[in-house]
Amino acid sequence: MLTNVPKKSFGDVPIAELVQPGRVHRRIYTDAAIYDLEQEAIWRRSWLLVGHISELKKPGDFLTRAMGRQPIILCRDKDDILHVFLNSCRHRGAKLCREKLGNAPRLNCIYHAWSFDFTGKLRSVPEPEGYGPEFRLEDFSLFEARVDTYQGLVFATLDPNPMPLPEFLGNSKEYLDMALSSDMEVFGSQEYQFDGNWKFHMENTLDGLHGSYLHLLFARSGMLTAGHSIDLGNGHGLLEWKTSKAKGDLGKTMGLDATEASPEKNRVMILFPNMALITINDLINLRILSPISVGRSSITALALGKPGDDPELRQRRGLQLSATQGPAGSAGADDIEIYEVNQEGCEATAPGIEWLELSRGLDRQIEKGGLIVGDLNDETAIRGCYVQWREMMRVPS
Ligand code: FES
Ligand SMILES: [Fe+2]
Repeated sequence: MLTNVPKKSFGDVPIAELVQPGRVHRRIYTDAAIYDLEQEAIWRRSWLLVGHISELKKPGDFLTRAMGRQPIILCRDKDDILHVFLNSCRHRGAKLCREKLGNAPRLNCIYHAWSFDFTGKLRSVPEPEGYGPEFRLEDFSLFEARVDTYQGLVFATLDPNPMPLPEFLGNSKEYLDMALSSDMEVFGSQEYQFDGNWKFHMENTLDGLHGSYLHLLFARSGMLTAGHSIDLGNGHGLLEWKTSKAKGDLGKTMGLDATEASPEKNRVMILFPNMALITINDLINLRILSPISVGRSSITALALGKPGDDPELRQRRGLQLSATQGPAGSAGADDIEIYEVNQEGCEATAPGIEWLELSRGLDRQIEKGGLIVGDLNDETAIRGCYVQWREMMRVPS
């Protein structure tokens, strides 16, 4: 049952109808009422990536992030069980944990010193008699999300009756298995925000066409070759391609070993709605996306490696994140600029220009083994995300 849900339609048009096969309405990026409905219909009901298991090694380890716009605490209790709680004190609602990460024996609220353990139970309050004879500590546990893990990825959901995580991951599991293993570790991270709607990150990550036109350094390197754009189902999507050897010294500029082209396929994947996995050359980059408002979003990027990586490989993995995909990277800086340019541009609206094209490759994509497969430069995978968006936004009025 949805509560506090704002507008579900504009006039006679349900919000879900603002996405259609091959086109989307520009209002989905700029309207705060649509953003509010997305929070209820998508962000509260999906499995969301919240972290990597290696970020919480010991009992008492914690970190704070967000699920949609809701602040959360991800922690490991003394029995080594992972928990995700809404980061809000049960007394007066204050943000309970204000640090980014750390290790502590308890979660103590700064306001009136209510103290919670890492299973979310309220353990003590000062001057308890003041709350009256009916007051019981056990009535004030933190709100807990469901948690599950896959290949070291920690997912959580606020849906009380979610589909099982393996079912949600669906066809993406095969690609997660190729890229990840449960013994991997996070060895670096970047956090940044941009003035753009969260869906621009989702779209651009699965946009194969822009590589040759926006990212001029990549285009000049001659590394981009043919590949596929794949709709994996459940809103998840994938681009995969092979890179050829970079021309001249351009590979080195991007933190690549200029003598070798990767024999493996490069892939970028979106798990709808908040995870990206980028495996290009040596780089294994996870992104956790959180929408802050209709026009502002944040990204936590995690660099992954194997504990046994030789130091040179580890260095290359880190360099490829900062030199290519990160906010100061040759591709990352361009992409962030585009999220903001998109947002600014979509504020313009007038009769006749409301609908934006998303039809590239619609008439030549094919179905193959239960997947929809298009050319790398087509919008097949992006359309897959919007099939899920439309489905989830079709809430009862
Ligand atoms: S708001 Fe947390 S103890 Fe009062
Ligand atoms: Fe890009």
